[in-house]
Amino acid sequence: MSAQPATSVDAHVVCESIHLGFGEREVFSDLCCEMVAGDVTVLMGSSGTGKSTLLRMIGGLQRPDSGSIRVAGRELVGLAEQGLAEARTHLGMLFQNGALLDSMTIFDNVALPLREHSKLSADQIAAEVRDRLDAVGLEGVEHLLPGELSGGMLRRAALARAIIENPEVLLCDEPFSGLDPPNVERIEALLTRLNRERGLTVIVTSHHMASSLRMGHRIILLKDRAAVSGTPRELALSEDSEIHDFMGAEGAAFLKTLAADGASE
Ligand SMILES: Nc1ncnc2c1ncn2[C@@H]1O[C@H](COP(=O)(O)OP(=O)(O)O)[C@@H](O)[C@H]1O
Ligand SMILES: [Mg+2]
Repeated sequence: MSAQPATSVDAHVVCESIHLGFGEREVFSDLCCEMVAGDVTVLMGSSGTGKSTLLRMIGGLQRPDSGSIRVAGRELVGLAEQGLAEARTHLGMLFQNGALLDSMTIFDNVALPLREHSKLSADQIAAEVRDRLDAVGLEGVEHLLPGELSGGMLRRAALARAIIENPEVLLCDEPFSGLDPPNVERIEALLTRLNRERGLTVIVTSHHMASSLRMGHRIILLKDRAAVSGTPRELALSEDSEIHDFMGAEGAAFLKTLAADGASE
Protein backbone atom coordinates (compact mmCIF):
# COMPACT_ATOMS: atom_id res chain seq x y z
CA MET A 1 0.00 0.00 0.00
CA SER A 2 1.33 3.43 -0.85
CA ALA A 3 1.93 5.78 2.06
CA GLN A 4 -0.64 8.51 2.48
CA PRO A 5 0.83 11.97 2.95
CA ALA A 6 0.46 13.12 6.54
CA THR A 7 -2.28 15.70 6.94
CA SER A 8 -1.10 18.97 8.49
CA VAL A 9 -2.78 19.91 11.74
CA ASP A 10 -3.78 23.24 10.25
CA ALA A 11 -5.09 21.92 6.93
CA HIS A 12 -8.41 23.56 6.14
CA VAL A 13 -9.13 21.58 3.00
CA VAL A 14 -7.82 18.07 2.47
CA CYS A 15 -8.23 16.11 -0.78
CA GLU A 16 -7.18 12.48 -0.63
CA SER A 17 -6.94 9.82 -3.33
CA ILE A 18 -9.29 11.66 -5.67
CA HIS A 19 -10.25 9.86 -8.86
CA LEU A 20 -12.41 11.55 -11.44
CA GLY A 21 -13.10 10.90 -15.08
CA PHE A 22 -15.55 12.23 -17.63
CA GLY A 23 -16.20 9.34 -19.99
CA GLU A 24 -12.86 8.38 -21.51
CA ARG A 25 -11.13 11.44 -20.07
CA GLU A 26 -9.43 10.71 -16.75
CA VAL A 27 -8.91 14.09 -15.08
CA PHE A 28 -7.61 12.99 -11.66
CA SER A 29 -5.95 9.77 -10.66
CA ASP A 30 -5.05 9.51 -6.97
CA LEU A 31 -4.90 13.28 -6.49
CA CYS A 32 -3.79 14.29 -2.99
CA CYS A 33 -3.41 17.89 -1.88
CA GLU A 34 -4.29 20.17 0.97
CA MET A 35 -4.81 23.85 1.63
CA VAL A 36 -3.66 25.31 4.92
CA ALA A 37 -6.01 27.43 7.06
CA GLY A 38 -5.33 31.13 6.63
CA ASP A 39 -3.19 30.65 3.52
CA VAL A 40 -3.67 31.90 -0.01
CA THR A 41 -3.25 28.79 -2.17
CA VAL A 42 -3.02 29.17 -5.93
CA LEU A 43 -3.99 26.26 -8.18
CA MET A 44 -1.96 26.38 -11.36
CA GLY A 45 -1.48 24.11 -14.35
CA SER A 46 -1.96 24.13 -18.09
CA SER A 47 -5.42 24.47 -19.52
CA GLY A 48 -7.49 21.32 -19.03
CA THR A 49 -5.49 19.96 -16.06
CA GLY A 50 -8.55 20.22 -13.83
CA LYS A 51 -8.11 23.47 -11.86
CA SER A 52 -11.76 24.51 -12.16
CA THR A 53 -12.90 20.95 -11.56
CA LEU A 54 -10.88 20.72 -8.33
CA LEU A 55 -12.33 24.03 -7.15
CA ARG A 56 -15.82 22.80 -7.99
CA MET A 57 -15.22 19.59 -6.02
CA ILE A 58 -14.09 21.59 -2.96
CA GLY A 59 -17.18 23.77 -3.41
CA GLY A 60 -19.41 20.68 -3.41
CA LEU A 61 -20.52 21.37 -6.99
CA GLN A 62 -18.81 18.34 -8.54
CA ARG A 63 -18.57 14.88 -7.01
CA PRO A 64 -15.37 12.83 -7.49
CA ASP A 65 -15.74 9.18 -8.57
CA SER A 66 -13.92 8.22 -5.39
CA GLY A 67 -11.71 9.70 -2.69
CA SER A 68 -12.16 12.07 0.19
CA ILE A 69 -12.61 15.84 0.38
CA ARG A 70 -12.72 17.37 3.84
CA VAL A 71 -13.38 21.03 4.49
CA ALA A 72 -12.76 22.05 8.12
CA GLY A 73 -12.88 18.36 9.02
CA ARG A 74 -16.26 17.83 7.32
CA GLU A 75 -16.32 15.05 4.70
CA LEU A 76 -18.08 16.20 1.55
CA VAL A 77 -17.94 12.98 -0.45
CA GLY A 78 -21.09 10.98 0.06
CA LEU A 79 -23.15 13.90 1.40
CA ALA A 80 -26.67 14.21 0.03
CA GLU A 81 -27.61 17.46 -1.74
CA GLN A 82 -28.92 19.02 1.49
CA GLY A 83 -25.66 18.31 3.32
CA LEU A 84 -23.69 19.79 0.43
CA ALA A 85 -25.87 22.89 0.48
CA GLU A 86 -25.16 23.29 4.20
CA ALA A 87 -21.42 22.82 3.59
CA ARG A 88 -21.55 25.50 0.89
CA THR A 89 -22.75 28.10 3.41
CA HIS A 90 -19.21 28.06 4.86
CA LEU A 91 -17.69 28.73 1.44
CA GLY A 92 -17.62 31.88 -0.65
CA MET A 93 -17.38 31.29 -4.38
CA LEU A 94 -16.32 33.54 -7.20
CA PHE A 95 -16.80 31.44 -10.30
CA GLN A 96 -16.35 32.46 -13.91
CA ASN A 97 -19.94 31.64 -14.75
CA GLY A 98 -21.21 33.12 -11.48
CA ALA A 99 -21.95 36.47 -13.05
CA LEU A 100 -24.20 38.98 -11.33
CA LEU A 101 -27.86 39.02 -12.30
CA ASP A 102 -28.29 41.69 -14.99
CA SER A 103 -31.75 42.83 -13.97
CA MET A 104 -30.85 43.51 -10.32
CA THR A 105 -28.95 46.47 -8.90
CA ILE A 106 -25.50 45.91 -7.43
CA PHE A 107 -27.03 46.31 -3.95
CA ASP A 108 -29.66 43.62 -4.58
CA ASN A 109 -27.10 41.28 -6.16
CA VAL A 110 -24.79 41.50 -3.14
CA ALA A 111 -27.73 41.29 -0.69
CA LEU A 112 -29.29 38.25 -2.40
CA PRO A 113 -27.51 35.47 -0.43
CA LEU A 114 -28.42 37.15 2.88
CA ARG A 115 -32.04 37.57 1.82
CA GLU A 116 -32.15 33.89 0.87
CA HIS A 117 -30.27 32.39 3.79
CA SER A 118 -30.47 34.73 6.80
CA LYS A 119 -33.14 36.25 9.00
CA LEU A 120 -31.44 39.65 9.16
CA SER A 121 -33.60 42.77 9.00
CA ALA A 122 -33.50 45.07 5.96
CA ASP A 123 -31.34 47.55 7.93
CA GLN A 124 -28.91 44.84 9.00
CA ILE A 125 -28.66 43.58 5.42
CA ALA A 126 -28.00 47.11 4.16
CA ALA A 127 -25.20 47.51 6.71
CA GLU A 128 -23.63 44.19 5.67
CA VAL A 129 -23.83 45.07 1.97
CA ARG A 130 -22.20 48.49 2.57
CA ASP A 131 -19.46 46.85 4.62
CA ARG A 132 -18.60 44.39 1.81
CA LEU A 133 -18.82 47.01 -0.96
CA ASP A 134 -16.55 49.17 1.15
CA ALA A 135 -14.15 46.24 1.62
CA VAL A 136 -13.80 45.83 -2.16
CA GLY A 137 -13.45 49.59 -2.71
CA LEU A 138 -16.85 50.11 -4.35
CA GLU A 139 -18.91 52.99 -3.06
CA GLY A 140 -21.78 54.83 -4.66
CA VAL A 141 -22.62 52.05 -7.14
CA GLU A 142 -25.34 50.33 -5.09
CA HIS A 143 -28.14 51.62 -7.30
CA LEU A 144 -26.44 50.77 -10.63
CA LEU A 145 -27.13 47.73 -12.78
CA PRO A 146 -24.25 45.36 -13.61
CA GLY A 147 -24.32 46.56 -17.23
CA GLU A 148 -23.32 50.03 -16.04
CA LEU A 149 -20.07 48.87 -14.39
CA SER A 150 -16.62 48.23 -15.91
CA GLY A 151 -15.17 44.69 -15.94
CA GLY A 152 -12.91 45.40 -12.97
CA MET A 153 -15.76 46.87 -10.92
CA LEU A 154 -18.00 43.93 -11.79
CA ARG A 155 -15.37 41.50 -10.57
CA ARG A 156 -15.13 43.43 -7.29
CA ALA A 157 -18.92 43.45 -6.91
CA ALA A 158 -18.96 39.67 -7.45
CA LEU A 159 -16.25 39.39 -4.81
CA ALA A 160 -18.38 41.45 -2.39
CA ARG A 161 -21.23 39.00 -2.99
CA ALA A 162 -18.91 36.01 -2.48
CA ILE A 163 -17.95 37.23 1.01
CA ILE A 164 -21.36 38.55 2.10
CA GLU A 165 -22.04 35.53 4.35
CA ASN A 166 -18.63 35.65 6.06
CA PRO A 167 -17.31 32.42 4.58
CA GLU A 168 -14.34 30.61 6.12
CA VAL A 169 -12.98 29.67 2.72
CA LEU A 170 -13.08 31.74 -0.46
CA LEU A 171 -12.87 29.87 -3.78
CA CYS A 172 -12.04 31.98 -6.84
CA ASP A 173 -11.87 30.58 -10.36
CA GLU A 174 -9.59 32.71 -12.55
CA PRO A 175 -10.35 35.98 -10.73
CA PHE A 176 -7.91 37.85 -12.98
CA SER A 177 -9.16 36.62 -16.34
CA GLY A 178 -10.07 39.30 -18.84
CA LEU A 179 -8.79 42.14 -16.64
CA ASP A 180 -6.17 44.73 -17.60
CA PRO A 181 -2.96 44.94 -15.50
CA PRO A 182 -4.18 47.67 -13.09
CA ASN A 183 -7.31 45.64 -12.35
CA VAL A 184 -5.29 42.43 -11.95
CA GLU A 185 -3.22 44.24 -9.32
CA ARG A 186 -6.30 45.58 -7.64
CA ILE A 187 -8.00 42.18 -7.33
CA GLU A 188 -4.72 40.65 -6.19
CA ALA A 189 -4.35 43.31 -3.46
CA LEU A 190 -7.97 42.78 -2.43
CA LEU A 191 -7.65 39.01 -2.12
CA THR A 192 -4.44 39.45 -0.13
CA ARG A 193 -6.16 41.96 2.18
CA LEU A 194 -9.22 39.75 2.71
CA ASN A 195 -6.88 36.91 3.59
CA ARG A 196 -4.85 39.03 6.04
CA GLU A 197 -7.57 41.11 7.63
CA ARG A 198 -10.47 38.65 7.71
CA GLY A 199 -8.38 35.49 8.12
CA LEU A 200 -10.03 33.94 5.07
CA THR A 201 -8.51 30.81 3.61
CA VAL A 202 -8.28 31.75 -0.07
CA ILE A 203 -8.04 29.21 -2.92
CA VAL A 204 -7.55 30.71 -6.35
CA THR A 205 -7.02 29.20 -9.78
CA SER A 206 -4.89 31.33 -12.03
CA HIS A 207 -2.92 31.41 -15.24
CA HIS A 208 -1.29 34.59 -14.10
CA MET A 209 2.19 33.46 -13.02
CA ALA A 210 3.65 36.73 -11.66
CA SER A 211 0.60 37.42 -9.56
CA SER A 212 0.36 33.82 -8.30
CA LEU A 213 3.98 33.89 -7.17
CA ARG A 214 3.43 37.17 -5.34
CA MET A 215 0.18 36.33 -3.61
CA GLY A 216 0.35 32.56 -3.01
CA HIS A 217 1.65 31.23 0.31
CA ARG A 218 1.59 27.90 -1.48
CA ILE A 219 1.09 26.86 -5.07
CA ILE A 220 -0.47 23.57 -6.13
CA LEU A 221 0.61 22.69 -9.63
CA LEU A 222 -1.69 20.22 -11.38
CA LYS A 223 0.01 17.93 -13.86
CA ASP A 224 -0.33 14.35 -15.03
CA ARG A 225 -3.70 13.95 -13.28
CA ALA A 226 -2.02 14.61 -9.90
CA ALA A 227 -0.52 17.54 -7.99
CA VAL A 228 2.84 18.94 -6.91
CA SER A 229 2.79 21.62 -4.25
CA GLY A 230 5.22 23.97 -2.60
CA THR A 231 5.89 27.55 -1.70
CA PRO A 232 6.46 29.85 -4.70
CA ARG A 233 10.17 29.78 -3.86
CA GLU A 234 10.31 25.98 -3.69
CA LEU A 235 8.62 25.63 -7.07
CA ALA A 236 10.72 28.36 -8.67
CA LEU A 237 13.85 26.56 -7.41
CA SER A 238 12.66 23.12 -8.57
CA GLU A 239 15.04 21.17 -10.74
CA ASP A 240 12.21 19.09 -12.20
CA SER A 241 12.35 20.16 -15.85
CA GLU A 242 8.57 20.14 -16.27
CA ILE A 243 8.05 22.42 -13.26
CA HIS A 244 10.99 24.59 -14.31
CA ASP A 245 9.52 25.00 -17.81
CA PHE A 246 6.10 25.78 -16.41
CA MET A 247 7.48 28.47 -14.07
CA GLY A 248 9.41 29.97 -16.98
CA ALA A 249 11.04 33.39 -16.99
CA GLU A 250 8.60 34.70 -14.40
CA GLY A 251 9.77 32.03 -11.94
CA ALA A 252 13.35 33.18 -12.45
CA ALA A 253 12.35 36.85 -12.12
CA PHE A 254 10.55 36.03 -8.87
CA LEU A 255 13.69 34.41 -7.40
CA LYS A 256 15.66 37.54 -8.28
CA THR A 257 13.12 39.69 -6.41
CA LEU A 258 13.47 37.40 -3.36
CA ALA A 259 17.26 37.65 -3.54
CA ALA A 260 17.05 41.45 -3.83
CA ASP A 261 14.64 41.65 -0.87
CA GLY A 262 16.95 39.40 1.16
CA ALA A 263 19.97 41.57 0.31
CA SER A 264 18.23 44.77 1.38
CA GLU A 265 17.21 43.43 4.81
N1 LIG B 1 -18.81 18.54 -16.86
C1 LIG B 1 -17.83 18.04 -17.63
N2 LIG B 1 -18.09 17.09 -18.57
C2 LIG B 1 -17.12 16.58 -19.33
N3 LIG B 1 -15.82 16.94 -19.26
C3 LIG B 1 -15.50 17.88 -18.35
C4 LIG B 1 -16.47 18.49 -17.50
N4 LIG B 1 -15.84 19.38 -16.70
C5 LIG B 1 -14.55 19.36 -17.05
N5 LIG B 1 -14.33 18.45 -18.05
C6 LIG B 1 -13.03 18.10 -18.62
O1 LIG B 1 -12.13 17.95 -17.55
C7 LIG B 1 -10.85 18.48 -17.87
C8 LIG B 1 -10.47 19.52 -16.85
O2 LIG B 1 -11.27 20.67 -17.02
P1 LIG B 1 -11.12 21.99 -16.17
O3 LIG B 1 -11.24 21.66 -14.74
O4 LIG B 1 -12.07 22.98 -16.73
O5 LIG B 1 -9.60 22.41 -16.49
P2 LIG B 1 -8.86 23.80 -16.22
O6 LIG B 1 -9.72 24.63 -15.33
O7 LIG B 1 -7.55 23.41 -15.57
O8 LIG B 1 -8.62 24.40 -17.56
C9 LIG B 1 -10.96 18.99 -19.29
O9 LIG B 1 -10.49 17.98 -20.15
C10 LIG B 1 -12.44 19.23 -19.47
O10 LIG B 1 -12.78 19.11 -20.81
MG1 LIG C 1 -10.59 26.49 -15.55
